[in-house]
Amino acid sequence: MGELTSDYIQPSGVSDNHAKSYTHIEVQPLASAMGAEIKDVNLTNITDAEFDELADALYRHKMVYLRDQSLTLDDQENLTRRFGEFGVDAYTTGVESHPQIQRVVKEAEDKAQIIFGGSWHTDSPFLARPPAISLLYGVDIPPFGGDTLWANTVRAYAALSDTMKTMLAPLQVHMSGRRILAAMKQADTASASASFASMEIDAKERILFDGAYHPLVRTHPVTGEKGLYVDESYTVGIKGMSEYEAAPLVRFLCSHITQPIFTCRLRWEKYTFVIWDNRSCLHHAFNDHDGFRREMLRSIVEGEVPQ
Ligand code: SIN
Repeated sequence: MGELTSDYIQPSGVSDNHAKSYTHIEVQPLASAMGAEIKDVNLTNITDAEFDELADALYRHKMVYLRDQSLTLDDQENLTRRFGEFGVDAYTTGVESHPQIQRVVKEAEDKAQIIFGGSWHTDSPFLARPPAISLLYGVDIPPFGGDTLWANTVRAYAALSDTMKTMLAPLQVHMSGRRILAAMKQADTASASASFASMEIDAKERILFDGAYHPLVRTHPVTGEKGLYVDESYTVGIKGMSEYEAAPLVRFLCSHITQPIFTCRLRWEKYTFVIWDNRSCLHHAFNDHDGFRREMLRSIVEGEVPQ
């Protein structure tokens, strides 16, 4: 055995986030790990040919974003529906006129310790059919801070040893919102209800608490790529293991996935529109903008039962 080291994997010059050459869209990769900007597309009247290429770029780069998009709530709903059925949101009932769109907001005066999406996670994995794709529209953006980070779980899986991959292959993770619920309740002692500071929350507590079991290594239904399906926010156990056994493994996998070499970070601008694939990346909204308002509009696409 070689020398043991706990150091992060250092970049070695390798990048596999190159853009393909498309006919209808232009793609500019963001980082060597993942992410890409799609240029010269207007999401309000995207053609079928552009949409097909955008979806292909999404599966390739795991997260894509478009600047300067001017979308109504109807436009965002229509775009979301092109990817599939709306997903279930277990936290909010959505905007009154458009229940499929959730407002993600932190007011300037809020000093909340816990915000929506404020730790590494994949969206709603406590559901039997977690959302495949999430769409987020930047409406009000702090002058600095409030970035979002993503981590590529396919590249993280590929970087593991064959021995580790064999060990992980049969494992099922228990995904539950119980830790988030407890943290939200603790943060909002005044009402003893679950909340994320300025956001209106109508948490479906039973669904969040009970959660679901999913394969720790999941296969993407379109690309066939294998990725790690485990996160910091929702993974509460591994089937058949005691907490004492599971916790160090989950901790290792989360720190493995989220090391810098597998990540990208987006600086939001007003009217930036982001789309990511929850089956092949984790993400983390940064709660570092006290004194500045941040508002996003979010929608989700229902996914399959993870395989
Ligand atoms: C989310 O986790 O869906 C929200 C991410 C963000 O606000 O940047």
